Amino acid sequence: MWLYEKKLQYPVRVDTTNPTLAAMIIEQFGGADGELSAGLRYLSQRWTMPDKRVVATLNDIGTEELAHWEMIGTLVYRLTKDATIEQIKGTPFEAHYVNHGKSLYPHNAAGSPWTATYFNAKDDPIADLHEDMAAEEKARATYEWLINISDDPGVTDTLRFLRQREINHFQRFGESLMLMQDNNGCRKHY
Ligand SMILES: [Fe+2]
Repeated sequence: MWLYEKKLQYPVRVDTTNPTLAAMIIEQFGGADGELSAGLRYLSQRWTMPDKRVVATLNDIGTEELAHWEMIGTLVYRLTKDATIEQIKGTPFEAHYVNHGKSLYPHNAAGSPWTATYFNAKDDPIADLHEDMAAEEKARATYEWLINISDDPGVTDTLRFLRQREINHFQRFGESLMLMQDNNGCRKHY
């Protein structure tokens, strides 16, 4: 079970209404390497992971990714909630607006809806942990590109926090991979 804490993991500050930036940050709400994909990937893989320590890591990180998904949704909402129609028209957010208004909906920056095919669970610890490490690096790279295009200091601060968490997750999955490779119960050694 989960307990919900009615607060964000890290403060989300938005200095200026900016529908264009919101439309790009949606990549991390419903894109292939976004927070929803990450959370469901780790929480789906954990049942068949043979080492309880790695199960706990998947559980911890998967849960944290859902908190990041909440932060991304909050960023997008605050970037658009006060936007006038004139501020929305002609921006990349306009396509989202005609279908969803200012609701959050999981699709990527190009408008493709989120799909479970963005991740896998293979019942193979080595395959799953390699996917997890690659996913963290891809998420970190996405945050790099978003930081490059953000000209909002508050948004940039939040994106930097999220980028740092991806680095930490990559390291924890790396430790998990070493645990599995050292584990005598693991049938595969590379
Ligand atoms: Fe992560």
